[in-house]
Amino acid sequence: MTEEDLYTVYKGVFLFKKIHAQKNDILIVTYPKSGTVWMQEIVPLILSQGDPVVVDTVPNWDRVPWLEARAYIQNLDQRPSPRVFITHFQYNMMPTGFLKVKPRVIYVMRNPRDVFTSYLHFSRMASYLVSPGTQTEFLNKFLDGKVIFGSWFDHVKGWLSATEQHIMYISYEEMILDLEASVTRMAQFLDTPLDSEMIRKITDRCVFKNMKKNKMSNYSLMPSTMMDQNVSEFLRKGIAGDWKNHLTAAEAENFDEFYRKQMKDVKYTFVWD
Ligand code: A3P
Repeated sequence: MTEEDLYTVYKGVFLFKKIHAQKNDILIVTYPKSGTVWMQEIVPLILSQGDPVVVDTVPNWDRVPWLEARAYIQNLDQRPSPRVFITHFQYNMMPTGFLKVKPRVIYVMRNPRDVFTSYLHFSRMASYLVSPGTQTEFLNKFLDGKVIFGSWFDHVKGWLSATEQHIMYISYEEMILDLEASVTRMAQFLDTPLDSEMIRKITDRCVFKNMKKNKMSNYSLMPSTMMDQNVSEFLRKGIAGDWKNHLTAAEAENFDEFYRKQMKDVKYTFVWD
Protein backbone atom coordinates (compact mmCIF):
# COMPACT_ATOMS: atom_id res chain seq x y z
CA MET A 1 0.00 0.00 0.00
CA THR A 2 1.29 3.46 -0.87
CA GLU A 3 0.59 6.86 0.64
CA GLU A 4 -1.75 7.44 -2.28
CA ASP A 5 -3.83 4.38 -1.35
CA LEU A 6 -4.15 5.19 2.31
CA TYR A 7 -3.88 8.94 2.74
CA THR A 8 -5.39 12.11 1.49
CA VAL A 9 -3.60 15.45 1.59
CA TYR A 10 -5.14 18.34 3.46
CA LYS A 11 -3.17 21.60 3.63
CA GLY A 12 -0.06 19.65 2.71
CA VAL A 13 -0.49 17.10 5.52
CA PHE A 14 -1.35 13.38 5.14
CA LEU A 15 -4.63 12.32 6.74
CA PHE A 16 -6.37 8.92 6.71
CA LYS A 17 -8.55 8.42 3.68
CA LYS A 18 -10.58 5.54 5.03
CA ILE A 19 -13.33 5.38 7.51
CA HIS A 20 -14.47 2.04 8.82
CA ALA A 21 -17.77 1.78 7.09
CA GLN A 22 -20.06 -1.17 7.74
CA LYS A 23 -22.26 -2.72 5.09
CA ASN A 24 -25.27 -2.22 7.34
CA ASP A 25 -24.65 1.53 7.80
CA ILE A 26 -27.24 3.98 6.56
CA LEU A 27 -26.12 7.28 5.15
CA ILE A 28 -28.45 10.21 4.61
CA VAL A 29 -27.10 12.72 2.13
CA THR A 30 -28.44 16.21 1.58
CA TYR A 31 -27.35 19.52 0.18
CA PRO A 32 -27.84 22.09 3.01
CA LYS A 33 -31.44 23.23 3.59
CA SER A 34 -32.92 20.27 1.75
CA GLY A 35 -34.48 18.41 4.69
CA THR A 36 -31.52 17.24 6.78
CA VAL A 37 -33.05 17.66 10.20
CA TRP A 38 -36.33 16.21 8.93
CA MET A 39 -34.50 13.04 7.90
CA GLN A 40 -32.75 12.93 11.29
CA GLU A 41 -36.26 12.58 12.72
CA ILE A 42 -37.80 10.20 10.20
CA VAL A 43 -35.09 7.56 9.84
CA PRO A 44 -34.58 6.90 13.60
CA LEU A 45 -38.37 6.62 13.97
CA ILE A 46 -38.52 4.09 11.14
CA LEU A 47 -35.74 2.03 12.71
CA SER A 48 -37.42 2.13 16.14
CA GLN A 49 -40.74 1.21 14.47
CA GLY A 50 -42.32 4.39 15.76
CA ASP A 51 -40.97 4.28 19.32
CA PRO A 52 -40.36 7.99 20.03
CA VAL A 53 -37.86 7.60 22.91
CA VAL A 54 -34.80 8.29 20.81
CA VAL A 55 -36.18 11.41 19.10
CA ASP A 56 -37.58 12.67 22.40
CA THR A 57 -34.36 12.29 24.36
CA VAL A 58 -31.36 12.56 22.02
CA PRO A 59 -30.53 15.74 20.08
CA ASN A 60 -30.60 15.27 16.32
CA TRP A 61 -26.83 15.75 15.97
CA ASP A 62 -26.13 12.84 18.36
CA ARG A 63 -28.87 10.56 17.14
CA VAL A 64 -27.72 10.85 13.50
CA PRO A 65 -24.18 12.24 13.62
CA TRP A 66 -22.37 14.10 10.88
CA LEU A 67 -19.91 12.09 8.89
CA GLU A 68 -17.80 15.21 8.40
CA ALA A 69 -17.54 15.67 12.17
CA ARG A 70 -16.65 12.06 12.89
CA ALA A 71 -13.65 12.99 15.01
CA TYR A 72 -16.17 14.10 17.59
CA ILE A 73 -18.41 11.07 17.41
CA GLN A 74 -17.93 9.07 20.56
CA ASN A 75 -17.54 5.30 20.35
CA LEU A 76 -18.16 5.10 16.66
CA ASP A 77 -17.62 1.34 16.64
CA GLN A 78 -19.96 0.78 19.57
CA ARG A 79 -22.95 2.51 18.06
CA PRO A 80 -25.79 0.03 17.57
CA SER A 81 -26.24 -1.38 14.10
CA PRO A 82 -27.49 -0.13 11.76
CA ARG A 83 -25.53 3.05 12.38
CA VAL A 84 -27.06 6.12 10.74
CA PHE A 85 -24.96 9.04 9.56
CA ILE A 86 -25.71 12.24 7.78
CA THR A 87 -23.53 14.20 5.41
CA HIS A 88 -23.53 17.22 3.10
CA PHE A 89 -20.46 15.90 1.23
CA GLN A 90 -20.57 15.98 -2.53
CA TYR A 91 -20.17 12.53 -4.08
CA ASN A 92 -16.56 13.07 -5.11
CA MET A 93 -15.66 14.03 -1.52
CA MET A 94 -16.86 10.77 0.02
CA PRO A 95 -14.32 8.67 1.93
CA THR A 96 -13.33 5.70 -0.24
CA GLY A 97 -14.21 3.25 2.56
CA PHE A 98 -17.84 4.21 2.30
CA LEU A 99 -17.97 3.93 -1.43
CA LYS A 100 -16.37 0.48 -1.44
CA VAL A 101 -18.62 -0.96 1.26
CA LYS A 102 -21.71 0.46 -0.48
CA PRO A 103 -23.95 1.15 2.51
CA ARG A 104 -27.57 2.16 1.94
CA VAL A 105 -27.82 5.82 1.01
CA ILE A 106 -30.91 8.02 1.02
CA TYR A 107 -30.30 11.12 -1.06
CA VAL A 108 -32.76 13.97 -0.49
CA MET A 109 -33.16 16.75 -3.05
CA ARG A 110 -35.14 19.98 -2.89
CA ASN A 111 -36.10 22.60 -5.45
CA PRO A 112 -32.96 24.78 -5.51
CA ARG A 113 -35.07 27.94 -5.49
CA ASP A 114 -36.47 26.93 -2.09
CA VAL A 115 -33.04 25.76 -0.98
CA PHE A 116 -31.77 29.22 -1.83
CA THR A 117 -34.55 30.96 0.10
CA SER A 118 -34.05 28.75 3.13
CA TYR A 119 -30.27 29.14 2.92
CA LEU A 120 -30.58 32.94 2.81
CA HIS A 121 -32.66 32.99 5.99
CA PHE A 122 -30.38 30.48 7.65
CA SER A 123 -27.26 32.50 6.77
CA ARG A 124 -28.79 35.50 8.48
CA MET A 125 -29.39 33.64 11.74
CA ALA A 126 -26.33 31.35 11.98
CA SER A 127 -23.41 33.37 13.28
CA TYR A 128 -20.85 30.79 12.13
CA LEU A 129 -21.72 31.40 8.45
CA VAL A 130 -20.54 34.29 6.32
CA SER A 131 -23.16 37.00 6.37
CA PRO A 132 -25.16 36.64 3.12
CA GLY A 133 -25.39 40.32 2.14
CA THR A 134 -28.38 41.30 0.02
CA GLN A 135 -30.62 38.70 -1.56
CA THR A 136 -29.13 39.39 -5.00
CA GLU A 137 -25.57 39.15 -3.67
CA PHE A 138 -26.36 35.83 -2.01
CA LEU A 139 -28.10 34.58 -5.15
CA ASN A 140 -24.95 35.21 -7.18
CA LYS A 141 -22.89 33.33 -4.59
CA PHE A 142 -25.38 30.47 -4.48
CA LEU A 143 -25.47 30.02 -8.26
CA ASP A 144 -21.68 30.25 -8.33
CA GLY A 145 -21.36 27.60 -5.62
CA LYS A 146 -19.51 30.03 -3.36
CA VAL A 147 -21.38 28.85 -0.27
CA ILE A 148 -20.70 26.14 2.29
CA PHE A 149 -20.70 22.69 0.59
CA GLY A 150 -20.46 24.24 -2.85
CA SER A 151 -22.77 24.24 -5.81
CA TRP A 152 -26.25 22.73 -5.50
CA PHE A 153 -25.95 21.77 -9.17
CA ASP A 154 -22.66 19.86 -8.69
CA HIS A 155 -24.02 18.22 -5.56
CA VAL A 156 -27.18 16.91 -7.19
CA LYS A 157 -25.52 15.93 -10.48
CA GLY A 158 -22.72 14.13 -8.64
CA TRP A 159 -25.02 12.04 -6.47
CA LEU A 160 -27.40 11.32 -9.37
CA SER A 161 -24.45 9.89 -11.28
CA ALA A 162 -23.49 7.52 -8.45
CA THR A 163 -25.33 4.64 -10.08
CA GLU A 164 -23.05 1.91 -8.74
CA GLN A 165 -24.02 2.81 -5.18
CA HIS A 166 -27.08 1.53 -3.28
CA ILE A 167 -29.13 4.75 -3.31
CA MET A 168 -32.72 5.72 -2.83
CA TYR A 169 -33.55 9.15 -4.25
CA ILE A 170 -36.36 11.21 -2.78
CA SER A 171 -37.27 14.87 -2.78
CA TYR A 172 -38.43 17.26 -0.09
CA GLU A 173 -41.43 18.01 -2.32
CA GLU A 174 -42.49 14.34 -2.42
CA MET A 175 -42.30 14.29 1.38
CA ILE A 176 -44.46 17.42 1.55
CA LEU A 177 -46.97 15.99 -0.95
CA ASP A 178 -47.33 12.61 0.71
CA LEU A 179 -45.33 11.98 3.87
CA GLU A 180 -46.99 8.63 4.57
CA ALA A 181 -46.04 7.28 1.15
CA SER A 182 -42.50 8.67 1.58
CA VAL A 183 -42.07 7.03 4.99
CA THR A 184 -43.39 3.76 3.55
CA ARG A 185 -40.91 3.90 0.68
CA MET A 186 -38.00 4.65 3.04
CA ALA A 187 -39.01 1.83 5.40
CA GLN A 188 -39.06 -0.61 2.48
CA PHE A 189 -35.64 0.57 1.34
CA LEU A 190 -34.33 0.11 4.89
CA ASP A 191 -35.90 -3.38 5.16
CA THR A 192 -37.92 -2.33 8.18
CA PRO A 193 -41.47 -3.63 8.07
CA LEU A 194 -43.99 -1.13 9.42
CA ASP A 195 -47.72 -1.61 9.78
CA SER A 196 -50.11 1.20 8.85
CA GLU A 197 -50.52 2.27 12.50
CA MET A 198 -46.75 2.72 12.88
CA ILE A 199 -46.57 4.68 9.64
CA ARG A 200 -49.36 6.97 10.77
CA LYS A 201 -47.63 7.52 14.10
CA ILE A 202 -44.30 8.36 12.49
CA THR A 203 -45.93 10.68 9.97
CA ASP A 204 -47.80 12.49 12.71
CA ARG A 205 -44.58 13.07 14.68
CA CYS A 206 -42.78 14.35 11.60
CA VAL A 207 -45.24 16.83 10.14
CA PHE A 208 -43.84 20.32 10.40
CA LYS A 209 -46.06 21.73 13.16
CA ASN A 210 -45.40 18.77 15.47
CA MET A 211 -41.71 18.36 14.77
CA LYS A 212 -41.19 22.06 15.32
CA LYS A 213 -42.14 21.55 18.97
CA ASN A 214 -39.47 18.88 19.56
CA LYS A 215 -36.66 20.54 21.52
CA MET A 216 -34.33 17.72 20.49
CA SER A 217 -34.82 18.64 16.84
CA ASN A 218 -35.63 22.34 16.53
CA TYR A 219 -32.13 23.53 17.51
CA SER A 220 -33.45 25.43 20.53
CA LEU A 221 -30.68 23.63 22.50
CA MET A 222 -28.15 25.55 20.43
CA PRO A 223 -27.00 28.82 22.06
CA SER A 224 -28.52 31.91 20.48
CA THR A 225 -25.01 33.24 19.92
CA MET A 226 -24.67 30.50 17.27
CA MET A 227 -28.22 30.39 15.95
CA ASP A 228 -30.40 33.38 16.64
CA GLN A 229 -33.91 32.08 16.17
CA ASN A 230 -35.29 35.57 16.77
CA VAL A 231 -33.79 36.47 13.41
CA SER A 232 -35.16 33.37 11.67
CA GLU A 233 -36.30 30.05 13.08
CA PHE A 234 -34.49 26.88 12.07
CA LEU A 235 -37.81 25.20 11.32
CA ARG A 236 -38.89 28.31 9.48
CA LYS A 237 -41.82 27.64 7.09
CA GLY A 238 -41.55 24.04 6.01
CA ILE A 239 -43.36 24.42 2.69
CA ALA A 240 -42.65 23.95 -1.00
CA GLY A 241 -42.66 27.06 -3.17
CA ASP A 242 -41.83 29.78 -0.64
CA TRP A 243 -39.28 31.12 -3.17
CA LYS A 244 -42.23 32.70 -5.00
CA ASN A 245 -42.70 35.02 -2.01
CA HIS A 246 -39.08 36.15 -2.12
CA LEU A 247 -37.41 36.10 -5.55
CA THR A 248 -38.05 39.10 -7.78
CA ALA A 249 -39.20 38.42 -11.35
CA ALA A 250 -35.71 39.25 -12.64
CA GLU A 251 -34.02 36.99 -10.06
CA ALA A 252 -36.41 34.13 -10.87
CA GLU A 253 -35.69 34.50 -14.57
CA ASN A 254 -31.96 34.58 -13.98
CA PHE A 255 -32.32 31.44 -11.83
CA ASP A 256 -34.37 29.63 -14.51
CA GLU A 257 -31.86 30.37 -17.22
CA PHE A 258 -28.94 29.20 -15.08
CA TYR A 259 -30.87 26.09 -14.04
CA ARG A 260 -31.73 25.16 -17.64
CA LYS A 261 -28.10 25.40 -18.72
CA GLN A 262 -26.76 23.46 -15.75
CA MET A 263 -29.36 20.70 -15.82
CA LYS A 264 -29.83 20.22 -19.57
CA ASP A 265 -28.15 16.78 -19.66
CA VAL A 266 -29.75 15.45 -16.48
CA LYS A 267 -32.26 12.68 -17.22
CA TYR A 268 -33.87 12.56 -13.75
CA THR A 269 -37.41 13.96 -13.55
CA PHE A 270 -37.70 16.35 -10.63
CA VAL A 271 -41.10 16.94 -9.03
CA TRP A 272 -40.61 20.72 -9.22
CA ASP A 273 -40.00 20.67 -13.00
P1 A3P B 1 -37.47 26.38 5.34
O1 A3P B 1 -36.38 27.33 5.74
O2 A3P B 1 -37.90 26.56 3.91
O3 A3P B 1 -38.64 26.41 6.28
P2 A3P B 1 -31.98 21.42 6.71
O4 A3P B 1 -32.45 20.61 7.85
O5 A3P B 1 -31.42 20.63 5.56
O6 A3P B 1 -31.09 22.53 7.13
O7 A3P B 1 -33.29 22.10 6.05
C1 A3P B 1 -34.05 23.02 6.75
C2 A3P B 1 -35.35 23.22 5.99
O8 A3P B 1 -36.17 22.04 6.17
C3 A3P B 1 -36.15 24.38 6.53
O9 A3P B 1 -36.87 24.90 5.41
C4 A3P B 1 -37.06 23.68 7.54
O10 A3P B 1 -38.19 24.39 7.90
C5 A3P B 1 -37.41 22.43 6.73
N1 A3P B 1 -37.96 21.37 7.58
C6 A3P B 1 -37.42 20.82 8.69
N2 A3P B 1 -38.26 19.91 9.25
C7 A3P B 1 -39.36 19.89 8.46
C8 A3P B 1 -40.61 19.19 8.50
N3 A3P B 1 -40.90 18.34 9.48
N4 A3P B 1 -41.52 19.42 7.52
C9 A3P B 1 -41.25 20.28 6.52
N5 A3P B 1 -40.10 20.99 6.42
C10 A3P B 1 -39.16 20.80 7.37
